[in-house]
Amino acid sequence: MKTFPSKNIRHVAVIMDGNGRWANEKKMPRSAGHRAGASNVRRVVDKFKNIGLKYLTLYAFSTENWARPEHEIDTIMELLVSTANNQLADLDESNIKIVHIGDKMGLDPKVKRSIETCEDITRDNTEMTLCIAFNYGGRAELLNAIKILLSDPNIKDHPDEELIEKHLYTHNIPDPDLIIRTAGEMRLSNFLIWQSAYSEYYSTETLWPDFDEHEIELALHAYKLRTRKYGTISE
Ligand code: IPE
Ligand code: IPE
Ligand code: MG
Repeated sequence: MKTFPSKNIRHVAVIMDGNGRWANEKKMPRSAGHRAGASNVRRVVDKFKNIGLKYLTLYAFSTENWARPEHEIDTIMELLVSTANNQLADLDESNIKIVHIGDKMGLDPKVKRSIETCEDITRDNTEMTLCIAFNYGGRAELLNAIKILLSDPNIKDHPDEELIEKHLYTHNIPDPDLIIRTAGEMRLSNFLIWQSAYSEYYSTETLWPDFDEHEIELALHAYKLRTRKYGTISE
């Protein structure tokens, strides 16, 4: 029988949504919203690190976000590279390990290199794992795992949950205890669809660039009030 983790929170995953609306409200271009969103990452990472969280995942660019206008995609790619460049030394100093989940091959070589540099430099860090979901899609992740399993004659006829998990991008990362979505939507948008089977879900109207330490406290408080049952009749 599968064992589930205790209620102690180990992994929080955040769908960082609402950059565009933040900019719209201020009569600014969407790119300004993405810049404000990128600037907010450090504040949120620091807060979660300070409460002792071990895994934080941030959803930054989905496989569906390629459908956006080219100039917006360019802005997001440039922000990924510049944020990585600006923050890497400091994140490394803070003993934070950076891990990418998603399809690296579909990225521009410059973006891919930037992500790989972050992963290489912080590989041995132990304080917190910061997982960046970039060019990430839950369905693409599952399809990738299925293809690997089908290509192995030893396992293709008897796959099990463990084998699937072994081939997900999140291998070795525990399932998220809490998924937070900013900007009010009530959907996963192809985020961690396998891993979120028993995650608690929290949505706030606050737009991502405004999501601050107090907002994190509110989300954690809401989590504390939840009863996780995993299909049983008691916690
Ligand atoms: C989230 O903000 C950032 C990405 C999806 C890359 P949005 O750009 O989706 O902001 P809204 O939803 O338009 O407000
Ligand atoms: C989800 O936000 C993806 C990221 C935050 C990276 P979207 O803005 O792309 O989601 P939808 O389109 O509203 O579902
Ligand atoms: Mg959005």
